[in-house]
Amino acid sequence: MKDKTKLVASGRPHGRPSHPVNMPVERASTILFPTYDDFLAGARSITYGRLGTSSHRALEEAVTALEVGYETRLAPSGLAACTTAILAFVAAGDHILMTDTAYDPTRKFCDNFLQRFGVETTYYDPVASRADIAALMRPNTKVIFAESPGSLTFEVQDLPMLADVAHDNGAVLIVDNTWSAGYFCKPISLGADVSLQAATKYLVGHSDCLVGTITSADEQIAKKIYYALLQLGANVSADDAYLALRGMRTLSARLEQHEENALALAKWLGKRPEIEHVIHPAFRSCPGHNIWKRDFTGSSGLFSVVMKPVPLPALKVFFNAFKLFGMGFSWGGFESLCIHVRPDHNRTAVEWKTGGPVVRFHAGLEDIEDLIIDLERAFAAMEQA
Ligand SMILES: Cc1ncc(COP(=O)(O)O)c(C=O)c1O
Repeated sequence: MKDKTKLVASGRPHGRPSHPVNMPVERASTILFPTYDDFLAGARSITYGRLGTSSHRALEEAVTALEVGYETRLAPSGLAACTTAILAFVAAGDHILMTDTAYDPTRKFCDNFLQRFGVETTYYDPVASRADIAALMRPNTKVIFAESPGSLTFEVQDLPMLADVAHDNGAVLIVDNTWSAGYFCKPISLGADVSLQAATKYLVGHSDCLVGTITSADEQIAKKIYYALLQLGANVSADDAYLALRGMRTLSARLEQHEENALALAKWLGKRPEIEHVIHPAFRSCPGHNIWKRDFTGSSGLFSVVMKPVPLPALKVFFNAFKLFGMGFSWGGFESLCIHVRPDHNRTAVEWKTGGPVVRFHAGLEDIEDLIIDLERAFAAMEQA
């Protein structure tokens, strides 16, 4: 099946003569079993609310189909998906390689939490060569963590190369695949052992709940993920699983519109005198653009621009003038967002050197003409400030 069909057909109720189109919300803590043998059934059956009900299984099935993986498990948030996936593979005395462009709370987890448990993190340049990555590997390196494209600055990573280096050293490659929504990129087909998402973004798509997904490449990996989630006591509400699956039904249509609007905005912004350059994986100027062309089938709605240097009071006027673009930490919903981001604050492997402010846009589903009018208003206000 093609992705558009998978998004419509996976995780639907079946096996009953008549049934609703959508899998109903099945809320439960206690599950009752008709027989002793049913009580002892394996992990994939529905045994206890924390381990998921048919609402969770339906979402897991749809995400597994989309990510072309072996099995998907749910986490309470995208961040929990990142942290649990790492915890599944490390023990005291181990070492991991983390991309320097990781989502900042993922970095904080490594620096503040993993460190306390004796797991060391080395940050690497997201577009480092095979030789440079191989040189960072140690006998105790258990995980290479990639996020492609990277948070805030969108460097596209060479996942097949990272998978090779990881596997040559007995480590696993974990990929934060949130930007592509599993629609434009298939990390597991490119060699990754785990592809995870903040489903909070595009899968949910409506900015109203948090869910994480962790998709494993094979049974052995899946067992480790399952036990980590089980032992940490992670749980997603059935209502949130339902919302994420409902969001997936329209994912292809939404993403194609996000892509179109983002490309139009990025092109328009690239011609503005206030902009130094655009950072969008589909643009030749983006680090790793050739890898994006090789490994992705499209681009989503999130990108950044580097503005020419501007005094902070004028920048504030720019942001305060928007009527459509909102200022919010998330992305992936139907609404457009625009925030000032600071890659210079947290990079340690590669210093962020560009002078002007970095502004991250999420292109929503509004009419592009209205978005451009909103931007023109903000630039005009900044000019007068
Ligand atoms: C790339 C990426 N990964 C993970 C997360 C965390 O997702 P959540 O907010 O659901 O914890 C985010 C959130 O912004 C993100 O941008």
